[in-house]
Amino acid sequence: MRFATHSTFVFYYTKYKTQNIMYTPPFISKKLPIVGHTLEFAKDHVKLMQRGFAEKGSVFAFSLAGKNAVALIGPEYHKAYFEATDKQLSIQKVYGFVQAITGKVFFLGSHETYLNQRPILYEPFKYRKSLKYVPIMQHVIEDCLQKLGDEGEIELTQYCIHITRQVAGNAFMGEKFQKEMGSAFWDLYDDISASLDVVLPPNLPLPKFRKRDRAKAKAKEMLKPVIAARRANPEQYDDFLQEFIQTPMVDGTYADDETLLNFIITFMFASHDTTSGHAAWTIIQLLQNLDYLKAVEAELAEKFSHGTKLELNNISMLEHIYWAIEESSRMNPTADILLRFVEEDWEVGAYTIPKGWLAFVAPKVAHFLPEIHENPDKYDPYRFDTTREEHKTCPYQQIGFGGGSHKCAGMFFAKNEMAVMIACLFRDFEIELRTPNPVVTRSKGTPRPSETMIRYKRKAKMPQGFQNEAHIAQAAAMGCPHAHKM
Ligand code: HEM
Repeated sequence: MRFATHSTFVFYYTKYKTQNIMYTPPFISKKLPIVGHTLEFAKDHVKLMQRGFAEKGSVFAFSLAGKNAVALIGPEYHKAYFEATDKQLSIQKVYGFVQAITGKVFFLGSHETYLNQRPILYEPFKYRKSLKYVPIMQHVIEDCLQKLGDEGEIELTQYCIHITRQVAGNAFMGEKFQKEMGSAFWDLYDDISASLDVVLPPNLPLPKFRKRDRAKAKAKEMLKPVIAARRANPEQYDDFLQEFIQTPMVDGTYADDETLLNFIITFMFASHDTTSGHAAWTIIQLLQNLDYLKAVEAELAEKFSHGTKLELNNISMLEHIYWAIEESSRMNPTADILLRFVEEDWEVGAYTIPKGWLAFVAPKVAHFLPEIHENPDKYDPYRFDTTREEHKTCPYQQIGFGGGSHKCAGMFFAKNEMAVMIACLFRDFEIELRTPNPVVTRSKGTPRPSETMIRYKRKAKMPQGFQNEAHIAQAAAMGCPHAHKM
Protein backbone atom coordinates (compact mmCIF):
# COMPACT_ATOMS: atom_id res chain seq x y z
CA MET A 1 0.00 0.00 0.00
CA ARG A 2 2.05 2.95 -1.28
CA PHE A 3 -0.56 5.59 -0.65
CA ALA A 4 -3.81 5.28 1.24
CA THR A 5 -6.73 6.85 -0.61
CA HIS A 6 -9.91 7.15 1.42
CA SER A 7 -11.32 3.83 0.19
CA THR A 8 -8.11 1.82 0.65
CA PHE A 9 -7.71 3.26 4.13
CA VAL A 10 -11.28 2.31 5.11
CA PHE A 11 -10.83 -1.13 3.50
CA TYR A 12 -7.63 -1.92 5.36
CA TYR A 13 -8.94 -0.45 8.56
CA THR A 14 -12.15 -2.51 8.43
CA LYS A 15 -10.43 -5.70 7.31
CA TYR A 16 -7.73 -5.68 9.94
CA LYS A 17 -9.98 -4.32 12.66
CA THR A 18 -12.56 -7.09 12.16
CA GLN A 19 -9.85 -9.75 12.09
CA ASN A 20 -8.17 -8.03 14.99
CA ILE A 21 -4.88 -7.90 13.12
CA MET A 22 -2.84 -4.81 13.78
CA TYR A 23 0.71 -4.27 12.61
CA THR A 24 3.73 -2.41 13.87
CA PRO A 25 5.00 -0.05 11.12
CA PRO A 26 7.76 -1.59 8.97
CA PHE A 27 11.28 -0.27 9.53
CA ILE A 28 13.17 1.21 6.63
CA SER A 29 16.58 -0.18 5.63
CA LYS A 30 20.06 1.09 6.57
CA LYS A 31 19.52 1.06 10.32
CA LEU A 32 22.99 1.41 11.88
CA PRO A 33 23.92 -0.22 15.19
CA ILE A 34 23.31 2.07 18.22
CA VAL A 35 22.59 5.29 16.25
CA GLY A 36 19.89 3.80 14.03
CA HIS A 37 18.92 6.43 11.43
CA THR A 38 20.00 9.43 13.53
CA LEU A 39 22.89 10.52 11.30
CA GLU A 40 20.84 10.25 8.12
CA PHE A 41 18.02 12.22 9.76
CA ALA A 42 20.40 14.93 11.01
CA LYS A 43 22.00 15.25 7.57
CA ASP A 44 18.71 15.70 5.69
CA HIS A 45 15.46 14.67 7.35
CA VAL A 46 13.41 15.31 4.20
CA LYS A 47 15.58 12.93 2.17
CA LEU A 48 15.11 10.28 4.83
CA MET A 49 11.32 10.76 4.64
CA GLN A 50 11.39 10.56 0.84
CA ARG A 51 13.47 7.37 0.98
CA GLY A 52 11.17 5.84 3.59
CA PHE A 53 8.08 6.61 1.51
CA ALA A 54 9.64 5.17 -1.66
CA GLU A 55 10.71 2.03 0.20
CA LYS A 56 7.75 1.24 2.47
CA GLY A 57 4.82 3.45 1.45
CA SER A 58 2.54 5.64 3.55
CA VAL A 59 3.57 4.30 6.97
CA PHE A 60 7.17 3.51 7.91
CA ALA A 61 9.35 3.41 10.97
CA PHE A 62 12.89 4.49 11.71
CA SER A 63 15.08 4.86 14.74
CA LEU A 64 16.28 8.17 16.21
CA ALA A 65 18.75 8.39 19.09
CA GLY A 66 17.48 5.18 20.63
CA LYS A 67 13.81 6.09 20.11
CA ASN A 68 11.51 4.56 17.52
CA ALA A 69 9.66 6.90 15.20
CA VAL A 70 6.87 6.53 12.66
CA ALA A 71 6.18 8.71 9.61
CA LEU A 72 2.68 8.94 8.18
CA ILE A 73 2.20 10.19 4.62
CA GLY A 74 -1.14 10.92 2.94
CA PRO A 75 -4.41 12.68 3.74
CA GLU A 76 -6.14 9.84 5.60
CA TYR A 77 -3.17 9.40 7.90
CA HIS A 78 -2.86 13.16 8.35
CA LYS A 79 -6.52 13.23 9.38
CA ALA A 80 -5.92 10.61 12.06
CA TYR A 81 -2.79 12.47 13.18
CA PHE A 82 -4.33 15.93 13.43
CA GLU A 83 -7.58 14.68 14.92
CA ALA A 84 -5.85 12.68 17.67
CA THR A 85 -6.16 14.33 21.07
CA ASP A 86 -3.20 15.93 22.87
CA LYS A 87 -3.50 13.07 25.34
CA GLN A 88 -2.80 10.57 22.52
CA LEU A 89 -0.22 12.62 20.61
CA SER A 90 1.54 15.25 22.68
CA ILE A 91 2.83 18.41 20.98
CA GLN A 92 4.26 19.85 24.19
CA LYS A 93 6.67 16.98 24.88
CA VAL A 94 8.47 17.27 21.56
CA TYR A 95 8.96 21.02 21.66
CA GLY A 96 10.50 20.94 25.14
CA PHE A 97 13.74 22.43 23.78
CA VAL A 98 11.82 25.59 22.77
CA GLN A 99 10.46 26.14 26.29
CA ALA A 100 13.74 27.63 27.53
CA ILE A 101 13.07 30.47 25.09
CA THR A 102 9.32 30.83 25.19
CA GLY A 103 8.46 29.57 28.66
CA LYS A 104 5.69 27.02 29.15
CA VAL A 105 2.87 28.92 27.48
CA PHE A 106 0.21 28.07 24.90
CA PHE A 107 1.02 24.80 23.04
CA LEU A 108 4.44 24.71 24.76
CA GLY A 109 2.81 24.39 28.19
CA SER A 110 0.93 21.45 29.67
CA HIS A 111 -2.36 20.38 28.09
CA GLU A 112 -4.24 22.08 30.96
CA THR A 113 -2.28 25.34 30.48
CA TYR A 114 -2.96 25.23 26.75
CA LEU A 115 -6.71 24.81 27.22
CA ASN A 116 -6.77 27.56 29.85
CA GLN A 117 -4.83 30.04 27.66
CA ARG A 118 -6.49 29.17 24.34
CA PRO A 119 -8.96 32.11 24.44
CA ILE A 120 -5.98 34.49 24.59
CA LEU A 121 -4.20 32.72 21.74
CA TYR A 122 -7.17 33.15 19.42
CA GLU A 123 -8.44 36.59 20.52
CA PRO A 124 -6.25 38.69 18.13
CA PHE A 125 -7.40 36.60 15.17
CA LYS A 126 -11.15 37.10 15.63
CA TYR A 127 -12.63 38.52 12.42
CA ARG A 128 -13.52 41.95 13.83
CA LYS A 129 -10.07 42.34 15.38
CA SER A 130 -8.13 41.14 12.37
CA LEU A 131 -9.75 43.82 10.17
CA LYS A 132 -7.12 46.31 11.29
CA TYR A 133 -3.99 44.35 10.38
CA VAL A 134 -4.06 44.53 6.57
CA PRO A 135 -3.90 48.37 6.55
CA ILE A 136 -1.08 48.21 9.13
CA MET A 137 0.79 45.72 6.93
CA GLN A 138 0.39 47.93 3.86
CA HIS A 139 1.52 51.04 5.72
CA VAL A 140 4.59 49.33 7.20
CA ILE A 141 5.59 47.50 4.01
CA GLU A 142 5.21 50.56 1.76
CA ASP A 143 7.33 52.49 4.24
CA CYS A 144 10.06 49.81 4.19
CA LEU A 145 10.05 49.65 0.37
CA GLN A 146 10.22 53.45 0.14
CA LYS A 147 13.50 53.31 2.08
CA LEU A 148 15.04 50.97 -0.49
CA GLY A 149 15.73 53.89 -2.83
CA ASP A 150 15.48 53.61 -6.61
CA GLU A 151 17.75 50.67 -7.29
CA GLY A 152 20.11 48.26 -5.65
CA GLU A 153 20.78 44.69 -4.62
CA ILE A 154 19.64 42.86 -1.45
CA GLU A 155 19.66 39.40 0.06
CA LEU A 156 16.03 38.37 -0.20
CA THR A 157 15.36 36.30 2.95
CA GLN A 158 17.14 38.80 5.20
CA TYR A 159 15.05 41.55 3.69
CA CYS A 160 11.84 39.53 4.20
CA ILE A 161 12.92 39.03 7.84
CA HIS A 162 13.39 42.80 8.16
CA ILE A 163 9.86 43.40 6.82
CA THR A 164 8.16 40.72 8.92
CA ARG A 165 9.84 42.15 12.04
CA GLN A 166 8.52 45.60 11.23
CA VAL A 167 5.03 44.19 10.67
CA ALA A 168 5.15 42.01 13.79
CA GLY A 169 6.49 44.89 15.91
CA ASN A 170 3.66 47.17 14.80
CA ALA A 171 0.90 44.58 14.97
CA PHE A 172 1.98 42.83 18.17
CA MET A 173 3.19 45.79 20.24
CA GLY A 174 1.94 48.91 18.46
CA GLU A 175 3.56 51.61 16.32
CA LYS A 176 4.88 53.64 19.28
CA PHE A 177 6.64 50.64 20.83
CA GLN A 178 8.12 49.55 17.50
CA LYS A 179 9.44 53.07 16.82
CA GLU A 180 10.88 53.72 20.26
CA MET A 181 11.95 50.30 21.50
CA GLY A 182 11.44 47.89 18.59
CA SER A 183 15.06 47.56 17.53
CA ALA A 184 16.36 47.09 21.12
CA PHE A 185 13.61 44.51 21.75
CA TRP A 186 14.43 42.57 18.58
CA ASP A 187 18.14 42.56 19.56
CA LEU A 188 17.13 40.93 22.84
CA TYR A 189 14.92 38.51 20.95
CA ASP A 190 17.94 37.55 18.80
CA ASP A 191 19.96 36.74 21.94
CA ILE A 192 17.07 34.71 23.29
CA SER A 193 16.35 32.75 20.11
CA ALA A 194 20.06 32.15 19.32
CA SER A 195 20.22 29.95 22.42
CA LEU A 196 17.88 27.39 20.82
CA ASP A 197 19.48 23.97 21.21
CA VAL A 198 17.83 20.65 20.42
CA VAL A 199 20.50 18.58 22.19
CA LEU A 200 21.96 20.31 25.26
CA PRO A 201 20.04 20.75 28.54
CA PRO A 202 19.00 24.44 28.59
CA ASN A 203 20.39 25.11 32.07
CA LEU A 204 24.05 24.25 31.40
CA PRO A 205 26.36 27.14 32.39
CA LEU A 206 27.17 28.00 28.76
CA PRO A 207 27.68 31.58 27.49
CA LYS A 208 24.75 31.37 25.06
CA PHE A 209 22.36 30.21 27.80
CA ARG A 210 23.59 32.96 30.17
CA LYS A 211 23.10 35.50 27.38
CA ARG A 212 19.56 34.18 26.88
CA ASP A 213 18.73 34.58 30.58
CA ARG A 214 20.17 38.11 30.69
CA ALA A 215 18.24 39.07 27.55
CA LYS A 216 14.98 37.65 28.95
CA ALA A 217 15.46 39.58 32.19
CA LYS A 218 16.14 42.81 30.24
CA ALA A 219 13.15 42.26 27.95
CA LYS A 220 10.96 41.75 31.01
CA GLU A 221 12.22 45.02 32.54
CA MET A 222 11.59 46.78 29.25
CA LEU A 223 8.02 45.50 29.04
CA LYS A 224 7.07 46.18 32.67
CA PRO A 225 6.30 49.94 32.31
CA VAL A 226 4.72 49.29 28.90
CA ILE A 227 2.31 46.77 30.43
CA ALA A 228 1.61 49.03 33.41
CA ALA A 229 0.69 51.93 31.08
CA ARG A 230 -1.62 49.66 29.13
CA ARG A 231 -3.32 48.31 32.24
CA ALA A 232 -3.92 51.92 33.36
CA ASN A 233 -5.30 53.12 29.99
CA PRO A 234 -6.54 50.11 28.05
CA GLU A 235 -8.69 52.19 25.67
CA GLN A 236 -5.59 53.78 24.13
CA TYR A 237 -4.18 50.53 22.75
CA ASP A 238 -5.27 48.15 20.06
CA ASP A 239 -2.77 45.40 19.23
CA PHE A 240 -1.85 41.81 20.12
CA LEU A 241 -0.22 42.75 23.43
CA GLN A 242 -3.38 44.58 24.48
CA GLU A 243 -5.50 41.51 23.62
CA PHE A 244 -3.12 39.36 25.66
CA ILE A 245 -3.43 41.74 28.63
CA GLN A 246 -7.18 42.12 28.71
CA THR A 247 -8.48 38.73 27.60
CA PRO A 248 -9.37 36.48 30.54
CA MET A 249 -8.28 32.86 30.56
CA VAL A 250 -10.83 30.04 30.93
CA ASP A 251 -10.36 30.08 34.72
CA GLY A 252 -11.18 33.82 34.80
CA THR A 253 -7.64 35.01 35.65
CA TYR A 254 -5.43 37.32 33.55
CA ALA A 255 -1.83 36.78 32.43
CA ASP A 256 0.93 38.21 34.66
CA ASP A 257 3.95 40.17 33.31
CA GLU A 258 6.20 37.14 32.90
CA THR A 259 3.51 35.21 31.01
CA LEU A 260 2.82 38.24 28.77
CA LEU A 261 6.51 38.41 27.83
CA ASN A 262 6.42 34.70 27.04
CA PHE A 263 3.31 35.17 24.87
CA ILE A 264 5.06 37.86 22.84
CA ILE A 265 8.23 35.81 22.42
CA THR A 266 6.20 32.74 21.42
CA PHE A 267 4.38 34.75 18.77
CA MET A 268 7.62 36.21 17.47
CA PHE A 269 9.12 32.73 17.38
CA ALA A 270 6.12 31.14 15.64
CA SER A 271 5.63 33.92 13.14
CA HIS A 272 8.56 35.68 11.58
CA ASP A 273 11.07 33.06 10.41
CA THR A 274 8.23 31.02 8.94
CA THR A 275 6.59 33.99 7.20
CA SER A 276 9.84 35.42 5.84
CA GLY A 277 11.04 32.05 4.52
CA HIS A 278 7.71 31.39 2.84
CA ALA A 279 7.53 34.92 1.37
CA ALA A 280 11.07 34.57 0.03
CA TRP A 281 10.23 31.25 -1.67
CA THR A 282 7.11 32.73 -3.23
CA ILE A 283 9.10 35.65 -4.64
CA ILE A 284 11.89 33.36 -5.89
CA GLN A 285 9.44 31.05 -7.63
CA LEU A 286 7.68 33.99 -9.27
CA LEU A 287 11.03 35.22 -10.56
CA GLN A 288 11.82 31.75 -11.87
CA ASN A 289 8.46 31.55 -13.66
CA LEU A 290 8.21 34.72 -15.66
CA ASP A 291 5.08 33.65 -17.55
CA TYR A 292 3.17 33.43 -14.32
CA LEU A 293 4.77 36.64 -13.05
CA LYS A 294 3.33 38.44 -16.10
CA ALA A 295 -0.15 37.37 -14.97
CA VAL A 296 0.59 38.64 -11.44
CA GLU A 297 1.79 41.98 -12.82
CA ALA A 298 -1.28 42.29 -15.04
CA GLU A 299 -3.49 41.69 -12.03
CA LEU A 300 -1.58 44.30 -10.03
CA ALA A 301 -1.83 46.83 -12.85
CA GLU A 302 -5.57 46.24 -12.98
CA LYS A 303 -6.38 46.07 -9.28
CA PHE A 304 -3.58 47.53 -7.21
CA SER A 305 -2.35 50.81 -8.62
CA HIS A 306 -0.82 53.42 -6.28
CA GLY A 307 -3.35 54.86 -3.90
CA THR A 308 -5.39 51.62 -3.65
CA LYS A 309 -5.95 50.77 -0.01
CA LEU A 310 -5.88 47.09 0.80
CA GLU A 311 -8.37 45.86 3.40
CA LEU A 312 -9.31 42.45 4.72
CA ASN A 313 -12.44 42.74 2.60
CA ASN A 314 -10.75 43.41 -0.76
CA ILE A 315 -7.32 41.79 -0.48
CA SER A 316 -8.53 38.45 -1.89
CA MET A 317 -8.84 40.22 -5.28
CA LEU A 318 -5.08 39.54 -5.59
CA GLU A 319 -5.94 35.99 -6.65
CA HIS A 320 -2.79 35.22 -8.63
CA ILE A 321 -0.66 36.17 -5.63
CA TYR A 322 -2.64 33.95 -3.25
CA TRP A 323 -2.37 31.02 -5.70
CA ALA A 324 1.40 31.62 -5.86
CA ILE A 325 1.55 31.63 -2.04
CA GLU A 326 -0.36 28.31 -1.95
CA GLU A 327 1.94 26.79 -4.56
CA SER A 328 5.05 27.80 -2.58
CA SER A 329 3.49 26.40 0.59
CA ARG A 330 2.95 23.15 -1.31
CA MET A 331 6.41 22.94 -2.88
CA ASN A 332 8.56 24.57 -0.19
CA PRO A 333 6.74 24.31 3.14
CA THR A 334 8.74 26.12 5.82
CA ALA A 335 7.53 23.56 8.33
CA ASP A 336 8.73 20.58 6.27
CA ILE A 337 8.11 18.02 9.04
CA LEU A 338 5.88 18.10 12.13
CA LEU A 339 6.34 16.02 15.22
CA ARG A 340 4.38 14.55 18.16
CA PHE A 341 5.12 12.18 21.06
CA VAL A 342 2.88 9.09 21.25
CA GLU A 343 1.46 9.14 24.78
CA GLU A 344 -0.59 5.94 24.58
CA ASP A 345 -0.76 3.05 22.09
CA TRP A 346 -2.35 4.62 19.04
CA GLU A 347 -4.25 2.76 16.33
CA VAL A 348 -4.10 4.22 12.84
CA GLY A 349 -5.20 2.28 9.76
CA ALA A 350 -3.88 -1.27 10.09
CA TYR A 351 -1.17 -0.21 12.53
CA THR A 352 -0.68 0.20 16.22
CA ILE A 353 1.93 2.84 17.03
CA PRO A 354 3.32 1.93 20.45
CA LYS A 355 3.35 4.35 23.36
CA GLY A 356 6.69 6.20 23.63
CA TRP A 357 7.31 6.46 19.86
CA LEU A 358 7.74 9.73 17.99
CA ALA A 359 5.22 10.42 15.21
CA PHE A 360 5.99 12.57 12.15
CA VAL A 361 4.08 13.93 9.21
CA ALA A 362 6.08 15.34 6.34
CA PRO A 363 4.48 18.12 4.25
CA LYS A 364 7.47 18.24 1.93
CA VAL A 365 6.79 14.62 0.89
CA ALA A 366 3.00 14.54 1.18
CA HIS A 367 2.49 17.62 -1.01
CA PHE A 368 3.94 15.79 -4.01
CA LEU A 369 1.50 12.87 -4.27
CA PRO A 370 0.52 12.40 -7.93
CA GLU A 371 -2.86 11.00 -6.83
CA ILE A 372 -3.74 14.51 -5.70
CA HIS A 373 -1.62 16.91 -7.73
CA GLU A 374 -1.29 16.78 -11.49
CA ASN A 375 2.44 16.93 -12.35
CA PRO A 376 3.39 17.50 -8.71
CA ASP A 377 6.97 18.57 -9.52
CA LYS A 378 5.76 21.36 -11.82
CA TYR A 379 5.27 24.91 -10.54
CA ASP A 380 1.64 25.53 -11.37
CA PRO A 381 -0.26 27.97 -9.12
CA TYR A 382 -3.36 27.56 -11.29
CA ARG A 383 -3.90 24.20 -9.57
CA PHE A 384 -5.41 26.31 -6.76
CA ASP A 385 -7.67 28.48 -8.94
CA THR A 386 -11.46 28.23 -8.83
CA THR A 387 -11.69 25.93 -11.84
CA ARG A 388 -9.27 23.29 -10.51
CA GLU A 389 -9.05 23.59 -6.73
CA GLU A 390 -6.79 20.55 -6.36
CA HIS A 391 -6.39 21.38 -2.69
CA LYS A 392 -10.08 20.68 -2.13
CA THR A 393 -10.03 17.11 -3.48
CA CYS A 394 -9.84 15.82 0.09
CA PRO A 395 -9.17 17.31 3.52
CA TYR A 396 -5.76 17.30 5.17
CA GLN A 397 -3.67 17.06 2.00
CA GLN A 398 -2.17 20.57 2.28
CA ILE A 399 -0.54 20.65 5.69
CA GLY A 400 2.03 23.45 5.40
CA PHE A 401 0.21 25.22 8.25
CA GLY A 402 -0.49 22.02 10.18
CA GLY A 403 -4.03 20.83 10.89
CA GLY A 404 -6.53 20.02 13.64
CA SER A 405 -6.54 21.78 16.98
CA HIS A 406 -2.93 23.02 16.64
CA LYS A 407 -3.33 24.32 13.10
CA CYS A 408 -1.47 27.59 12.69
CA ALA A 409 -3.37 30.31 14.53
CA GLY A 410 -1.68 32.97 12.39
CA MET A 411 -2.26 31.37 8.97
CA PHE A 412 -4.52 34.10 7.55
CA PHE A 413 -2.36 36.80 9.13
CA ALA A 414 0.72 35.26 7.45
CA LYS A 415 -0.94 34.78 4.05
CA ASN A 416 -2.26 38.34 4.05
CA GLU A 417 1.10 39.72 5.10
CA MET A 418 2.86 37.81 2.31
CA ALA A 419 0.24 38.95 -0.21
CA VAL A 420 0.70 42.61 0.75
CA MET A 421 4.50 42.26 0.65
CA ILE A 422 4.53 40.59 -2.77
CA ALA A 423 1.92 42.97 -4.21
CA CYS A 424 3.81 46.09 -3.10
CA LEU A 425 7.16 44.70 -4.21
CA PHE A 426 6.09 43.77 -7.75
CA ARG A 427 3.94 46.87 -8.13
CA ASP A 428 6.86 49.14 -7.24
CA PHE A 429 9.91 47.37 -8.63
CA GLU A 430 11.34 45.48 -11.59
CA ILE A 431 13.11 42.59 -9.90
CA GLU A 432 15.82 40.33 -11.22
CA LEU A 433 16.96 37.10 -9.58
CA ARG A 434 20.78 37.23 -9.31
CA THR A 435 21.02 33.80 -7.66
CA PRO A 436 19.17 31.62 -10.16
CA ASN A 437 18.76 28.41 -8.18
CA PRO A 438 18.60 28.83 -4.41
CA VAL A 439 18.29 25.62 -2.40
CA VAL A 440 16.80 24.89 1.01
CA THR A 441 19.09 25.60 3.95
CA ARG A 442 18.35 24.57 7.53
CA SER A 443 21.45 26.08 9.10
CA LYS A 444 19.37 28.66 10.99
CA GLY A 445 16.53 26.48 12.25
CA THR A 446 13.44 26.93 10.09
CA PRO A 447 14.09 25.82 6.51
CA ARG A 448 14.61 28.84 4.26
CA PRO A 449 16.17 29.64 0.87
CA SER A 450 19.98 29.74 0.81
CA GLU A 451 21.51 33.18 0.20
CA THR A 452 19.55 34.73 -2.67
CA MET A 453 20.53 38.06 -4.15
CA ILE A 454 17.94 40.06 -6.04
CA ARG A 455 18.41 43.26 -8.01
CA TYR A 456 15.62 45.85 -7.95
CA LYS A 457 14.81 48.96 -9.94
CA ARG A 458 11.89 51.23 -9.07
CA LYS A 459 9.09 51.39 -11.65
CA ALA A 460 7.23 54.55 -12.68
CA LYS A 461 4.15 55.00 -10.48
CA MET A 462 0.87 53.69 -11.81
CA PRO A 463 -1.97 56.10 -11.09
CA GLN A 464 -5.26 54.84 -9.62
CA GLY A 465 -7.60 53.37 -12.22
CA PHE A 466 -4.72 52.77 -14.64
CA GLN A 467 -5.26 49.73 -16.85
CA ASN A 468 -2.21 48.14 -18.31
CA GLU A 469 -3.54 46.66 -21.55
CA ALA A 470 -0.07 45.53 -22.61
CA HIS A 471 0.39 43.49 -19.43
CA ILE A 472 -3.05 41.90 -19.74
CA ALA A 473 -2.43 41.02 -23.40
CA GLN A 474 0.92 39.53 -22.43
CA ALA A 475 -0.69 37.52 -19.60
CA ALA A 476 -3.26 36.18 -22.10
CA ALA A 477 -0.51 35.34 -24.60
CA MET A 478 1.36 33.44 -21.87
CA GLY A 479 -1.71 31.27 -21.33
CA CYS A 480 -3.22 32.84 -18.20
CA PRO A 481 -6.79 31.44 -18.19
CA HIS A 482 -7.98 34.46 -16.19
CA ALA A 483 -6.62 37.27 -18.40
CA HIS A 484 -10.08 37.91 -19.92
CA LYS A 485 -11.45 38.79 -16.45
CA MET A 486 -8.82 41.46 -15.75
C1 HEM B 1 4.18 31.26 6.51
C2 HEM B 1 4.08 31.45 7.81
C3 HEM B 1 3.73 30.39 8.81
C4 HEM B 1 3.82 29.02 8.71
C5 HEM B 1 4.32 28.19 7.54
C6 HEM B 1 3.35 28.48 9.96
C7 HEM B 1 3.26 27.13 10.23
C8 HEM B 1 2.70 26.61 11.39
C9 HEM B 1 2.53 25.20 11.64
C10 HEM B 1 2.92 24.08 10.69
C11 HEM B 1 1.94 25.07 12.85
C12 HEM B 1 1.53 23.75 13.53
C13 HEM B 1 2.70 23.15 14.27
C14 HEM B 1 2.42 21.72 14.69
O1 HEM B 1 1.29 21.22 14.54
O2 HEM B 1 3.36 21.08 15.19
C15 HEM B 1 1.76 26.40 13.39
C16 HEM B 1 1.20 26.68 14.62
C17 HEM B 1 1.10 27.95 15.13
N1 HEM B 1 1.39 29.14 14.48
FE1 HEM B 1 2.10 29.34 12.62
N2 HEM B 1 2.99 29.51 10.79
C18 HEM B 1 3.20 30.70 10.13
C19 HEM B 1 2.94 31.97 10.58
C20 HEM B 1 2.42 32.27 11.82
C21 HEM B 1 2.12 33.60 12.29
C22 HEM B 1 2.27 34.89 11.46
C23 HEM B 1 1.67 33.48 13.58
C24 HEM B 1 1.20 34.54 14.54
C25 HEM B 1 0.93 35.78 14.22
C26 HEM B 1 1.67 32.07 13.90
C27 HEM B 1 1.28 31.54 15.11
C28 HEM B 1 1.14 30.18 15.35
C29 HEM B 1 0.65 29.65 16.61
C30 HEM B 1 0.26 30.46 17.83
C31 HEM B 1 0.60 28.25 16.47
C32 HEM B 1 0.15 27.22 17.51
C33 HEM B 1 -1.35 27.01 17.42
C34 HEM B 1 -1.87 26.04 18.48
O3 HEM B 1 -1.12 25.19 18.96
O4 HEM B 1 -3.05 26.16 18.82
N3 HEM B 1 2.14 31.37 12.81
N4 HEM B 1 2.22 27.31 12.47
